[in-house]
Amino acid sequence: MFDEIEFEKIKRLPKYVFAAVNELKMSQRHAGADVIDFSMGNPDGPTPQHIIDKMVESVRKPKTHGYSVSKGIYKLRLAICRWYREKYGVELDPDTEVVASMGSKEGYVNLVQAITNPGDVAMVPDPCYPIHSQAFILAGGNVHRFKLEMREDYTLDEDAFFSSIETAMRESFPRPKYLVVNFPNNPTTVTIDLPFYEKLVDVARRERFYVISDIAYAEITFDGYRTPSILQVPGAKDVAVESYTLSKTYNMAGWRVGFLVGNPKLVGALVKIKSWLDYGMFTPIQVASTVALNEDQSCVREICDIYRKRRDVLVQSFGNAGWEIEKPRASMFVWARIPEPLRELGSLEFSKKLLVEANVAVSPGIGFGTYGDEYVRIALIENEERIRQAARNIRKFLKSHGCG
Ligand SMILES: Cc1ncc(COP(=O)(O)O)c(C=O)c1O
Repeated sequence: MFDEIEFEKIKRLPKYVFAAVNELKMSQRHAGADVIDFSMGNPDGPTPQHIIDKMVESVRKPKTHGYSVSKGIYKLRLAICRWYREKYGVELDPDTEVVASMGSKEGYVNLVQAITNPGDVAMVPDPCYPIHSQAFILAGGNVHRFKLEMREDYTLDEDAFFSSIETAMRESFPRPKYLVVNFPNNPTTVTIDLPFYEKLVDVARRERFYVISDIAYAEITFDGYRTPSILQVPGAKDVAVESYTLSKTYNMAGWRVGFLVGNPKLVGALVKIKSWLDYGMFTPIQVASTVALNEDQSCVREICDIYRKRRDVLVQSFGNAGWEIEKPRASMFVWARIPEPLRELGSLEFSKKLLVEANVAVSPGIGFGTYGDEYVRIALIENEERIRQAARNIRKFLKSHGCG
């Protein structure tokens, strides 16, 4: 019925590449296979007890049951300011430079809805977390994608990065207004250091574009590496906003808590659009999140340590099985180049084969962008024993294909 009524926005969204692997995973499971699942960035650990306790205490108080505050209760916004001061020495105004969101994804998507005029162009590195580009498409904008060049050790090739931006600013019409950055990066795990942001703020100011920085994995770092914030650069607030999430750091993915801070014009745009869309997160969630950010951070170190150990076991055991992978220095992922000669299959076919023949589920790199097709993303969400089992399966799998 009504064939002439078309949903143009939905038509602009590509088919979800990961769906193919997900469906296959389910059918393998239904057939009784023990699939070792590294495919989603969904933390498998529990939320720390003191955060749950605060949630329970708060939910017992009837006054928390009504509509909440869309931009976040004041105490939560103060806790966010405190977190930035302690971590990064950055001062924020809780009224104009901070907004809480229902997970950082919701904040990002609505920010992009709020700031994108029809046809606006955003620069987004490829590969990327898929919503980083799709949000602009959904909002009626366009995306200028450029290859995220990295070195062997998963550090950014900064010269290539800045030269891609220069090219985009010179050749893209209309001139891009936005750049999305995400370090530590999902899916590639690529990291940067503060001088990168210093240069980026300088370029953004000169070329006149806003930077939207996503530091979802800021606290999941190893071997002494620490994630910088773009807001540490003096004057960064003129050109940048940054988002963060409690999903990864505190195993709170299902709670849906994140925030966006920085440039008051962009923060204000998100606050305004959200005031039309929602009544804020359930107050007990906001109260518990305040405690998560304010109180003892030893749980963060424990969660981080679990990922580090898994990373070490994975890199070592997969290496012994014939799949050499460099150790990432941040995030809950390993970005693994597909071994020869299977690389020519492309990441989707390789992932399907790995699932069917070795019972190991990973995310095909192509799902994150064209330049991801020689890689797969392995999420560190299975325990060490399961990782070792996966390595045994992979050893046989690689042998049967003449590699390793
Ligand atoms: C880079 C990045 N940003 C944001 C998110 C979304 O996090 P949230 O749970 O806060 O929406 C993810 C989740 O995987 C992510 O990888």
